[in-house]
Amino acid sequence: MDKATTYPDCRGLPVTIASAEAAAALDATIAGYQGMRADTGDRLKEALTLDPDCPLTLTLRGYFMLLFAQAALAAKAKESLAAAEAAAAKRGVTERERRHIAALRAWCAGDSEAALAQWEAILAEHPRDALALRLAHYWHFYIGDPLKLRDSMARVLRGWDGSVPGYGFVLGCQAFALEESGDYEAAERAGRDAVEINARDAWAVHAVAHVLEMQDRTQEGIAWLNRYIPGLAGCHNFRFHTTWHRCLFYLEQDEGAFVVDLYDREVWPESAPDYLDICNAASLLWRLEEAGVDVGNRWAELAKQSATRTGEHLLVFADTHFALALGAVDPAGADAFIASARRSAAATGTQARVMGEIGAELCAAVVDYRRGAYGRVVDALLPRRALLRNIGGSHAQRDLFEKMLILAALADGRKAIAAELVADRGRRRPNNTWNRRLAARLAA
Ligand SMILES: [Fe+2]
Repeated sequence: MDKATTYPDCRGLPVTIASAEAAAALDATIAGYQGMRADTGDRLKEALTLDPDCPLTLTLRGYFMLLFAQAALAAKAKESLAAAEAAAAKRGVTERERRHIAALRAWCAGDSEAALAQWEAILAEHPRDALALRLAHYWHFYIGDPLKLRDSMARVLRGWDGSVPGYGFVLGCQAFALEESGDYEAAERAGRDAVEINARDAWAVHAVAHVLEMQDRTQEGIAWLNRYIPGLAGCHNFRFHTTWHRCLFYLEQDEGAFVVDLYDREVWPESAPDYLDICNAASLLWRLEEAGVDVGNRWAELAKQSATRTGEHLLVFADTHFALALGAVDPAGADAFIASARRSAAATGTQARVMGEIGAELCAAVVDYRRGAYGRVVDALLPRRALLRNIGGSHAQRDLFEKMLILAALADGRKAIAAELVADRGRRRPNNTWNRRLAARLAA
């Protein structure tokens, strides 16, 4: 191809790429990513077959590798970065593409804040850059800053309306950002609009489920997910997370046996190394046990997968769940994991910093809780409660740690602290059955 030949993507942004056909294949890959489709990897392969030296497609391959938050794939991301840099040097790239490569470089180095700065700079100029938009959404989420999550979306919406391909996916992101920042009404509206456009938009279906969870509209939550989850069959493993939400609603209704059944079929149907699968499963087993349900030997597989992550520490949110699984059945593995998590805090990068602030203490606390060292859990988490959000994840996901702190305070005989925490949770979730029960227990 000629040096710096560009073709427009489906939203009119120029891409340095060999042909219109290759540009269409890249569009399809990005659409697969937005739609969380299981065949996204195949689409990427097709795009790379049509143009193996496209700088943006190679960058996207690097992004995809890093999204797994797994050391072996992070090494492959660095190979993609080198290939993208070489292709860019050979062909030349647009400023937007140069920033994407810089974002990948920063992310490979563990500096997700620098990567975010690149994506936000792209979006300031090109609010229709669907890739920068979705990646900024991802990292604002895992940096645990709901206002930045919300404002990032609010800024780009000026570039979108119903005539722009992928508009529904942007509404889905907006819905989730609004939900995490507490604007449930606007979140639900945006989410329902997105699902109206595309009933298979997993992220939008999920955003509405979050609203229903936070407002404890349990029956509506069950009805909503029962209606839309069947349509997510072509979705990748994120569909297991939508079932995790379904399980939370059923747990609120004391349907523990059914939740175990759902766990085996649709939350952890097979042992997998994916961090979100492990997070869903560990979080659910903990909640089931807390509800008095015998989960048998289900922790064993989770612990086995988690042990392989000792020494990695790429995402603190995931690490806290690996510690949860190891703490349940593998005490020596849990100790090794905590020691390795503490060491990782000395490294550079966003997640190392979060590990130092709260992550390592939280990993130790979830293991202490399992060991019955309730006083240590309270002493570690109470003073750091405001830092919990820095591990990222959603309010619904981090609720596990809030519950754990309450139960630890109660078990350690520190009733005043437990009462204070239950009251605080009750203020945010006045209709939550779990909370009401705890409040009644404390009053008695
Ligand atoms: Fe969720």
